[in-house]
Parts: sequence; structure tokens; C-alpha cells
Amino acid sequence: MTKSPTANLRNPRSKAPPRSVHIVGTGSYVPQRVLRNADLEKLVDTTDDWIVTRTGIRERRIAAENECTSDMGAQAALRAMEQAGVRGEDIDLIICATLTPDMPFPATACLIQQKIGAKRAAAFDMEAACSGFLYAVEIGQQFITSGTYNTVLVIGAEKLSTITDWEDRSTCVLFGDGAGAAVLRSSGQTHGILTTCMGADGSQSDILLMPAGGARYPASKESVSGRMHYLKMAGKEVFKNAVVAMQTAAEEALRKCNLTIQDIQCVIPHQANIRILEALADRLGAPMDKVYVNLDRYGNVSAASVAIALDEAARAGRFQRGDLILLVVFGSGLTWAAAVIQW
Ligand code: UT7
Repeated sequence: MTKSPTANLRNPRSKAPPRSVHIVGTGSYVPQRVLRNADLEKLVDTTDDWIVTRTGIRERRIAAENECTSDMGAQAALRAMEQAGVRGEDIDLIICATLTPDMPFPATACLIQQKIGAKRAAAFDMEAACSGFLYAVEIGQQFITSGTYNTVLVIGAEKLSTITDWEDRSTCVLFGDGAGAAVLRSSGQTHGILTTCMGADGSQSDILLMPAGGARYPASKESVSGRMHYLKMAGKEVFKNAVVAMQTAAEEALRKCNLTIQDIQCVIPHQANIRILEALADRLGAPMDKVYVNLDRYGNVSAASVAIALDEAARAGRFQRGDLILLVVFGSGLTWAAAVIQW
């Protein structure tokens, strides 16, 4: 009997279990230039001691002038593809999570498609700020689970240095540039991405934003002179929300797959501030040595943060095949997400 063209699509009434989805390769890329806290002391009224004590950040990477989000995303993607043994033509879909696209349009995912030779792939960007990578993983997973696609490339890439106000000491010490990527594929095995959950609260959209450059305040002399094309943040408010939202998301993800924090070998959170990670670990009951931290070297790289951390932790052997890991993120929107993965 010939196979119907829709044979792979999941019938909602079918009893067949959904296809499990695995991360079969990860990759990351950070630019060469290192900006240390001592360098920032020369730019704004700050000190290495304040930055380390209040944030845990020691240095961050800054992209070269001609190095764009799509260049960094493509480098991370090629490394993930190499590890997965996947060629450009094998990829069905590219999702790029970013709040610093090369241009408002076309999508940075399309520019990456061309750079990695993924000619067959559909490509789009999605924006959920620092939560973007996990939102993109969830979307990619759904396309695979439904049988629509087999191989999805998910990327988090940012050139935050272009929207950082280098005269504002309360934000310019926090951010950096870089990219991370993961290749998602279905497999016959039962483990893989066990659960994901996402959330948002638009009522607090004003505590972390870039006001201008969109339809509300298009670029004008006034928007530029008012420094409205830079990121603005009410730090304390964001801090409090980050801790609560990440705790809630992490607990929901664990509950959904009937696990407790004791079952988890490694927690990989969004890398914004060491004090947020310590408060989160404390509330979840996880010792800090279970929590992967790289913000001391990269600062906050928004959508790329958790993707870079996942790649580094996997390559460093922080968890083994079969281990359970918990990813949890938070960002502007407000948005948050968590995922439990059996590696
Ligand atoms: O990726 C999305 C998620 N983002 C986050 O989660 C970031 C969350 N927020 C934070 O991480 C923290 O709120 C910050 C690191 C941004 C700020 O830390 P804080 O402990 O909340 O400091 P603060 O804003 O309350 O400022 C305390 C003092 C102020 O001085 P006064 O008013 O007490 O005299 C600031 O002006 O620290 C001053 N300050 C600085 N001093 C030296 C703020 N930034 C700096 C600085 N260097 N860079």
C-alpha cells in the first residue's frame, strides 16, 4: 500500500504516542573581543567591585563592527550541525530567537539560512527577548511532534552591544554579544525533551524595553537625541519578577513530568545576575554546584544566554546521556519558559 502524503501528520484522535524530540547537536560562538570590568571603569562611573558584587559579571564579549547577529548565529549553527552530523540540506526549518536582528526585515533566520546553505529550510525569527531560545525550542518541538518536520535548527543570537547605552552605568555593565544553537530531531527513543512550559505578562512590558525603532516611535531626530533606541530597564523590578517567574516555571515543568529537583543533574538558567541564580537555586532547593553559570565570562546575552550555556555545559561533560537537565529563562515581555530534557 502506498503511504499517504499525510501519513506522518499526527491525527489528534490517534492513540499513537507523539514522536519524541531530541537535541542531537549544540554549538555556540562568542566574538573575540573581551570587554573587562576595568575597561568599563574608564567609560562610566563604576567599579569592578560593584559589578562583581552586584551581578557576578567579570567580562563580556563584544562583536566587531562588521560582525552581525546573523554571522554569530551562523557560526553557532555550523558547530551544532557538525556535532549532530547534519548538513545544510537536511534542515527543514530554522527559527532564530533574537531581539537584535541584523535588520527589522528580512528575518535574520533567512540570512543564516543562506550562510549555512540550508536551501530547503523554511526560516523565521521570533522575539521573546531573553526567553526566546526556549520559546523557539518549544515551537521547533511542536513541528517535529506533529510530523510536519524532521530536523529543526534553533538559534539564539544577539548583538546587544548595538542597543546598549554606553553612557548608562545601570545597564551597560550587564550585556554582551554571542550566539548558541541546537539541532532538534525526532527519534524512536522515549527520552529527549520531556516537557516545556511558557508564559508571559504583558502588563509589565514597561520595565524592560527599547522604546523606539518600531511603529510606536519610528526613528526620528527626537528619538535619537532622546536615546530611545537603547535598552531601558527598571533593574530592581525586573530582578524580583525574574526570581519568581523562573521559580514558578521550573516547578511547573518538573511537576508536568512528575519529577523533583532532586532528580535533576544540572540546572541551566538564563544568565542575567548571579544573585538571581542564587535566589532561584535557594527557592528550588538546588545546591549551586548543580547550576551552570557562565555569566562571569559573557554577561547577559539575552536569547543566546541559555543556548551558549547549554552548549558549554554539554561539551564540558556537566551531564551525561540519560541525565535529566532543567532549563529555565526569563525576559522582557515579560516572558518566561522552562524545559526538562533527558539528555
Ligand atoms: O535579561 C533580563 C533579565 N535582566 C535581569 O534580570 C536584570 C535584573 N536586575 C539586576 O540584575 C539588578 O537590579 C542590577 C544589577 C541591574 C542593579 O542592581 P541593584 O542591586 O538592583 O542596584 P540598584 O539599581 O538598586 O542600584 C543601587 C545603587 C544605586 O545608587 P544609589 O541610588 O543607591 O546611590 C545605583 O545608582 O547602585 C548604583 N549603581 C551603580 N553603581 C556603580 C547602578 N549601577 C551601577 C554601576 N556601578 N554599574
